[in-house]
Amino acid sequence: MTIKVLGLSTSPRANGNSDLLLRQALAGAQSAGASAEYIKLSDLNIAPCSECNSCYTTGTCRIEDDYQMLSGKLLNTDRLIFATPIFFMSVCAQAKALIDRSQCYWAHKYVLKKQFDVKQDRRAMVIAVGGSKSTKMFESIRLTMKSYFDALEMQYVANLFVNKVSDAGQIQKHPSAMKEAFRLGEELITISALPEKTLDIELT
Ligand SMILES: Cc1cc2nc3c(=O)[nH]c(=O)nc-3n(C[C@H](O)[C@H](O)[C@H](O)COP(=O)(O)O)c2cc1C
Repeated sequence: MTIKVLGLSTSPRANGNSDLLLRQALAGAQSAGASAEYIKLSDLNIAPCSECNSCYTTGTCRIEDDYQMLSGKLLNTDRLIFATPIFFMSVCAQAKALIDRSQCYWAHKYVLKKQFDVKQDRRAMVIAVGGSKSTKMFESIRLTMKSYFDALEMQYVANLFVNKVSDAGQIQKHPSAMKEAFRLGEELITISALPEKTLDIELT
């Protein structure tokens, strides 16, 4: 059966570095036989969570926007590649708005104690790019994404973190990052055994 991969690009700019790495990773996944779908979050209308807590009784989000469509895809995919720029030590606002809306999954699971009807062996990986010399911000990405993938019932299998890359498109002059993204995308499909721990790749 063909493995479905969803690539989610959250960078708000055109020719974003995280976006370019995501496209490489999707190409790698496709080269390994997966079917790939690419979505740019800034093309969608996704409001932030309003903390109305209605999902604590319904298990679903009552804000009507593109979230419902995207949520359907997120729950139906076998693999997710989530790409984000690093903004103020964390994911960008577009990514965080989507992540916060997943409170309805959390409520479904932990408040209403219901099971999700999702496929087995769902896996996710993160691509994050920052401009600074520091690598401290990768830790906050790890924590946020772990919590998000738990809510989505996906195994967090890999990170590709790149720092010291600022200008749009600059990542194209970083052949090892582009190569690594392709390879990780490929491995997301070809490696059948789940890794014991999340694979962490940090490139400068
Ligand atoms: C609002 C804003 C906040 C940023 N904060 C950080 C930061 O905390 N750490 C960092 O390393 N880079 C930071 N950057 C730089 C971006 O992470 C960097 O330009 C990156 O290449 C953007 O990825 P993209 O091209 O995929 O959007 C920031 C940029 C912006 C616009």
